[in-house]
Parts: sequence; structure tokens; C-alpha cells
Amino acid sequence: MDNAVILAGGQGKRMKADMPKPLFKVLGEPMLEWVIGACENSGIKDICVVKGYKAEMIDEYLGGRYETVLQAERLGTGHAVMQAIPFMKKNSDGNTLVLCGDAPFIDSKTISDSLKMHKENGNSVTVITSEVENPFGYGRIIRTANGISSIVEEKDATVEQKKIREINSGAYWFRTEDLIEALGLLTTDNSQGEYYLTDTIYILLEKGRKADAFKSENPNVVLGANDRRGLLMLNTTAREDIIGKHLENGVEFTCTDGITIGRDVVIGAGTQILSGTVLSGKTVIGSDCVIGPDCIIENSTVGNGTKLNYVQCYESQIDDNVKIGPFVQVRPGSHIKSGAKIGDFVEIKNSVIGEETAVAHLTYVGDSDVGGCVNFGCGVVTVNYDGEKKSRCTIEDNAFIGCNTNLVAPVKIGKGAYTAAGSTITKDVPADALAIERGDTKTIEGYAARKLKNRKKK
Ligand code: UD1
Ligand code: CA
Repeated sequence: MDNAVILAGGQGKRMKADMPKPLFKVLGEPMLEWVIGACENSGIKDICVVKGYKAEMIDEYLGGRYETVLQAERLGTGHAVMQAIPFMKKNSDGNTLVLCGDAPFIDSKTISDSLKMHKENGNSVTVITSEVENPFGYGRIIRTANGISSIVEEKDATVEQKKIREINSGAYWFRTEDLIEALGLLTTDNSQGEYYLTDTIYILLEKGRKADAFKSENPNVVLGANDRRGLLMLNTTAREDIIGKHLENGVEFTCTDGITIGRDVVIGAGTQILSGTVLSGKTVIGSDCVIGPDCIIENSTVGNGTKLNYVQCYESQIDDNVKIGPFVQVRPGSHIKSGAKIGDFVEIKNSVIGEETAVAHLTYVGDSDVGGCVNFGCGVVTVNYDGEKKSRCTIEDNAFIGCNTNLVAPVKIGKGAYTAAGSTITKDVPADALAIERGDTKTIEGYAARKLKNRKKK
């Protein structure tokens, strides 16, 4: 069975942070996760991560999802892969994919296409390469009539070799048995005194095995980040790439300023995404919506024809033809049903808002089940927390909640019932009733005039 070894031992000193480089994020996800995702999407589930610098952070991030091995000293890429030999030996009859945990744009198609070539040609090693404008710093690919003869590192290259623009992406397919054999023969006889993984190529060629290069159609496979500027560039590349795919799917952008869309986000045709909008996680947006400006939507589902304007929404579901905003927060566990309207300065938390219900302004609805066609006046508060426990409010269809009502949970407002403005409701209100809880208005005639006279005397 085929497996993968992902090198994630690097520190990334120039990032100036105490974190392994592969954990730095591109579009909100660690680079390591991008690499793992590409493996998984190409069908390789047997993965071993080589950790080194701040290994405990890699462990904590992976949470036991994959096997890991520790490279206690950083003695080069060949040395890093050597640490995974026990892992490879468990399944040595197939092929091993070696990837860098800090080159996030390796894609599943490149992985599968290169494996196909690797198998069809009976290669012992197939290097995934890319042709770049500026090859400086990368290992150069030395091609021959029937494959490649070696990879020469920048520091070891001659002037002529430095002109070669086909470079080693740092990703390879090996026949597992051959890789294990070649790793045993690596030496540190080079300008950096390291065990170069790339030296396995001439070792295998000397044994009469085949080595070749697979040039990826994706020029970004090689991209990595050495510093914060590089990380920003990775984010920019990923951002533009993803927006490009949505454009092809019929999503409208008139300006892409500040728009960041996670790689798993799905958006329907005819939807418009406005500036400053950040969509992340497993978010799905339907067709013909307007999202933005300045929305943050995380792990949420939005139906068709919905308009969100300055909305933050987390782990929630919003159905069709809903209008929300501006300045609204929808917190986890909420479900806003079709045709609902939610206006400025409203917070909804862990609540259901029924069809056609209106919560127009300055209202908090938490831990509540609200029916359809309910109207909330301005300034309603569901009092869901008594300092110890949270309780739910139930508001049935067609109820009318007057302005500045406090609904002290647990409490139920029956179908079509009214609460009078300013009431603090502590008992259930039956269907079609009016609940009013406030003193009568008392008028004191001439009071203000007397006050004014006293003030003038002083
Ligand atoms: C390596 C390749 C080079 C290629 C380039 C692509 C070698 C000798 N050279 O160069 O041909 O063009 O990658 O980026 O392999 N790592 C460890 N432990 C180590 C050393 C490295 O885990 O002891 C990991 C790093 O964290 C990184 C990957 O291996 O994920 C590549 O290491 P890096 O030092 O960046 O390799 P380069 O010298 O740039
Ligand atoms: Ca590198």
C-alpha cells in the first residue's frame, strides 16, 4: 500500500515566532493541513509526520490523527526521512510519497498524476518538479535522455547548472523498499554537511534503478515561506487562486479588497461577495445572495437569495431570502428560517428564528425557539442566564413582543399573544392574550413649571 511521509521538522527562524513553520497558517489553516489534505484527497491515508522543532506543538495540532516520528537533530532532509523508516517498513511493498510540510500548494492531481507516471515507467524515484522564473536556492534537475541523473543544490551547483530553471519541489515518489535501501547509504559528503534526500537519486541510479522527473502543471507546488513576507505572498496567491475559481463558477466580485475565502467554501452562481468579507471553514452559500460588505461567516450554511450586510455568523444555518444586518452577530447553534428579517444591532445565539419573523433592532435573542411571523419590537431581551444556568424561551407563531420587553426564561409566549412595551415577563402568556407588567402612567400637572420657577429663584 502507498503511504506518505511529511517533513515538518523545520523551525523557520525568520518567522520570528516559537512555532514549527508548517503550523503557520494560509487562509486560516496551517500549511501542514493543506499538505495533509492534498494527500488525503489523492487517496493516501497512511501518513507519517516527521516532527522536530517544538514537536509537542505538532502533536497537539494533529491530536493523534496521524502517526508521527521525532527527528531529534536536524541533519538534513535525508536524515528526516530516515526517522520514518520504521513507519515505512510496516508497508514496504508499495510506494512512499515524501512531501514538505511547509509547501502548502501541492495538489491531489499532481500527486496522483505523478504516481501514475512513477508506476507506469517502473521508476524507483520520481521527483515532482516545476519550471520557475527564478530558480535561486532550489535544487536543479539534471535531465538525461531517459530520465534524470541528479539534483544539484544551489550551494553545490556550477555556473552552468545554476541556469537550469526546472527545480525540485521537494516532493517525490519512491518505491518504498528502494528508498529504505538508499537512505542507508546516504553520507554527509556535501557543502552543507547534511544528509541530502536528493542524494538518493544517484545512489539508486548506481544500482541500475530508474529515476525521472514529473513536471507539475501547477507552478505553485514549490512555493513555501521563509519569512512573514513569504507567508503573506502564499496567502495572496491562495486568495487570488480561490477567488478565480469562484469567478469561473459565476460568483460576482466587483472588488476583491479584503475578501478571503477558505478553500472548502462553496458559493452558488449569481451570488455577489462584497469587500471585506471573510468566509471560512465548511461554509456553504447558495445562489443569488449578497454577502458583504464586511461579513465574517464561519462554518455556516446560507440558502439562496439571502442578503447579509455587516454580519458575523458562526456555526449556524440561515435559510432562503433572509435579510440580516447591518451589525448583527449570529452565534453558534442558530437557525434563521426563510424570509426572516434581522436588523441592526441584534444578537442571536443558539436560537431558532421562524419563517418571516422580524427582529428589527437592538435585540438579544438567546437560547430561544421563536416561531414564524413573530414581531420583535426594539430593545427586546431574552433573559436566558440567571448567573448559574441557562434556560430557554419559547415564542410561538404570530406573537408580538413589545419594545423593551424582558422575557425571563424559562417562559413561553403563546400563539398570537402580545407583550406590552416595557414589560418584564416572568410567567407564561397564553395564546392570543396580552401580558402587561408595568405601573400605570401617573401625570403630575404643572410639575415642570414649578421646578423651573425654583431654579430661576436660585
Ligand atoms: C530542499 C531540497 C531542494 C528543493 C527544496 C524545495 C534537499 C537536500 N534539497 O532544499 O532540492 O529544491 O527542498 O523546497 O533535500 N526538514 C526536516 N529536517 C531536516 C531538514 C529539513 O524536517 O533536518 C524539512 C523542513 O522542515 C522542510 C523540508 O524538510 O519542510 C525541506 O527542508 P529545507 O531545509 O527547506 O530544504 P532546502 O534546503 O530548502
Ligand atoms: Ca526550503
